[in-house]
Amino acid sequence: MNILVLGSGGREHTFAWKLAQSERCDSLFVAPGNAGTSKIATNISLSVTDFDAIKNCVLENEIGMVVVGPENPLVDGIVDFFKQDSELNKVAIIGPSKRGALLEGSKERAKEFMALYDIPTAAYESFKEDSIEAGKEFLETLESPYVLKADGLAAGKGVLIIDDLEEAKQELENMLSGKFGDASATVVIEEFLDGIELSVFVLTDGNSYKILPTAKDYKRIGEGDTGLNTGGMGAISPVPFVDEAFMKKIEDRIVKPTVRGLKEEEIDYKGFVFIGLIKVNDDPYVIEYNVRMGDPETEVVLPRIKSDLGVLLEKTFQQQLASVEVEIDPRAATTVMAVSGGYPESYEKGKEISGLDTMEEDVIVFHAGTTLKEGKTVTSGGRVLAVTSFGDDYEKALKKSYRNVEKISFDRMYYRKDLGFDL
Ligand code: AMP
Ligand code: GLY
Repeated sequence: MNILVLGSGGREHTFAWKLAQSERCDSLFVAPGNAGTSKIATNISLSVTDFDAIKNCVLENEIGMVVVGPENPLVDGIVDFFKQDSELNKVAIIGPSKRGALLEGSKERAKEFMALYDIPTAAYESFKEDSIEAGKEFLETLESPYVLKADGLAAGKGVLIIDDLEEAKQELENMLSGKFGDASATVVIEEFLDGIELSVFVLTDGNSYKILPTAKDYKRIGEGDTGLNTGGMGAISPVPFVDEAFMKKIEDRIVKPTVRGLKEEEIDYKGFVFIGLIKVNDDPYVIEYNVRMGDPETEVVLPRIKSDLGVLLEKTFQQQLASVEVEIDPRAATTVMAVSGGYPESYEKGKEISGLDTMEEDVIVFHAGTTLKEGKTVTSGGRVLAVTSFGDDYEKALKKSYRNVEKISFDRMYYRKDLGFDL
């Protein structure tokens, strides 16, 4: 069948790279894609939230499967759009329905879901403009630091962690009066959890599920986890401190009740669940749900899946996931993200990238923000390239990623040199 991947980042290049190896893939398309995807697939220029344009693309190219990379089209209801359209409802679209996507699209909904199915998470309450005083009183009952979350999608910027009580009250006011637009019309205030973060990825067909490799990403721009938040500066898989006993806790206390909740609420969910966790002492708590794969986590998770991803996703859509096995590469994988100088604040684009043809064997460069200009690969975004390597353990894999990222260059290129420092 012909397969379409929606999105343009490192995550989507990785999906395209993996699906290109599938026995189920005839022609591969990525929309809009980047310079990396253009080498292995046909790029189609469209916006991932323009459902009519996506429909035209699917019909014109006789697409049999659509893999949705980012959250916005899912939260906007792309899966429901396909289901309700007589020309599209046979297409295997991978992702949750709009109701399922609310687990990411609304922090309040996610917290209510977790409360309902006894899934461990930080204690919380949510507030609107008319309950601002109650919100301030709730803050007084908590200990510093204070965690304030915009309910809706805010491009990864909607979470504030504040040490000072008066400042937290002021930020609550700012958020409720539109700091993040409609996204912060409701604010979730929650207890601060102190621990180390990790992510677990689950593929579900709504009935059964497969747990994919764990990963840990590095979100801050600066070494030692300092400075502004980014989309992610690199990732490591598997997470070395997750042993069998801890994984069993995650599966029993979090994965199983999550899938049970989706089923009990008859939510159409055929796709990935990305569970952001924090390990406090020896127990896992959910920080957030995402209804898609992570970026750059995908750049280390998919390369460790040996099974045919096209088959896995087809079985997911057919609700036959229970009938297949997922084979995982026991080696570690790491990815180091090379970004534009200035990112995540303002940065320049259009810088020529050199060294891409000098990589060691078994190193994969996934493109994030790149484009082709007069036959040359140039930067076109903040996060530019993710350099993925394998090793017997994460330290060996990281060494290889670093050895190879050093061979790549573009004007003002930056990358973190301390990934794994906390492991
Ligand atoms: P979220 O968008 O919900 O993942 O939050 C962004 C980041 O804020 C997380 O990756 C954590 O580092 C941090 N965070 C969110 N909630 C909490 C919490 N309850 N306790 C401690 N840190 C948190
Ligand atoms: N790397 C975090 C995310 O994809 O949301």
